[in-house]
Amino acid sequence: MTYDKPTVRWGIVATGLISSWFVKDIVLERSDAKANHFVQAIGSSSVEKGQNFVKEHLPGKSPTIYGSYQELYTDPNVDIIYIGTPHAFHKQNALNSIAHGKHVLCEKAFTLNAAETREVLNAAKEKGVYIMEAMWTRHFPLVRTLQKLLHKDKVIGEIQRTFCDFAMDMKIAEKGPESRLKNPALGAGTLLDIGIYSLTWSIIGLEPPLGMGEKPLTAAPEKPKILAAQTLSDEIDISTSIILHYADGRQGIATSNAVVKSSSPSFCRIEGTEGVVFVYGRGPSMPDYFTVRKLNGEETKYEFEKPGMGFFWEADAVAVDVAAGRTESTIMPWAETLRVMEILDEARRQGGARFPQDPRN
Ligand SMILES: NC(=O)c1ccc[n+]([C@@H]2O[C@H](COP(=O)([O-])OP(=O)(O)OC[C@H]3O[C@@H](n4cnc5c(N)ncnc54)[C@H](OP(=O)(O)O)[C@@H]3O)[C@@H](O)[C@H]2O)c1
Repeated sequence: MTYDKPTVRWGIVATGLISSWFVKDIVLERSDAKANHFVQAIGSSSVEKGQNFVKEHLPGKSPTIYGSYQELYTDPNVDIIYIGTPHAFHKQNALNSIAHGKHVLCEKAFTLNAAETREVLNAAKEKGVYIMEAMWTRHFPLVRTLQKLLHKDKVIGEIQRTFCDFAMDMKIAEKGPESRLKNPALGAGTLLDIGIYSLTWSIIGLEPPLGMGEKPLTAAPEKPKILAAQTLSDEIDISTSIILHYADGRQGIATSNAVVKSSSPSFCRIEGTEGVVFVYGRGPSMPDYFTVRKLNGEETKYEFEKPGMGFFWEADAVAVDVAAGRTESTIMPWAETLRVMEILDEARRQGGARFPQDPRN
């Protein structure tokens, strides 16, 4: 622990897969850490589940374990709450955290729909607390470097097109209604689970981030035209295709599929007037490297080290923002979270997937 960095005491809501990845990552020793992270407390549906979680994923650590989320929200030793429940519970978990004055890092998709997102963001604004959607990939040095190369250095000229895909065999037919991947009331379907990454990569490729090049930190998000189609099975989308079409001709195709695992080594292609970028990795959420190929055939590979999976970068960003007194991130600002949810809503409006919690029009 070093005293020249912010120190954050995390409270973890839920002990599922993503929470296990998050806690293991943030307690790793890193020479370039921008904050000291402590897992202060765990909130779970049962104390026993919490104990097993700590034994398996935080050996040697002894956070407070609660058999409810409510006790976590009221723990005065918790600074920031990380929400790792299925999408359908994000809204209530976030509202409860905010009501108790806690800062929040909430897993993607931020909520089920844009109406819920507005409710949460309004509550955070009113209470004056920090909240960020845990779209962790946007915080990877790989992504930040790629954005600079594309949008500031213009290594492939003017960006024209992107093709981004996330396809994995989710074995949905084998799952029961209790599964968050099967039950529409839990936000099931490819769109919120993995399609959100294809959309995110389209945005990374097609649009400069805030504060880069000509784009001021206060710029409103762009509003491309959205054309979308979905195939539904048992009321949930098993494939979604989204076209983003910008007024100046930029175009993106973002796809997600729950039936096949993509066998393509690259999940994202970004085309410009002077070259092409291919991004590779275990999946679109966890990029490993990318290549830049110029029109003359010259190719450069960009590789990046990471000691764990990469959740510590978003955790560092939260800690630094909170220590600076900010209530939102410049990397994943509130307006961007809302814009992403609005695009997902529009894709579902055109494609047909509905959640019982959606507002009735
Ligand atoms: N960033 C990423 O790469 C990534 C990867 C995977 C998932 N995610 C996101 O993380 C969230 C959780 O996904 P996950 O894969 O971690 O889910 P999971 O393994 O099913 O775990 C979800 C946890 O939420 C709690 N929970 C509360 N009510 C529940 C209910 N009715 N059904 C199921 N669980 C309930 C449970 O914890 P307790 O019993 O301890 O309360 C459960 O263990 C989703 O929003 C997903 O999109 C993100």
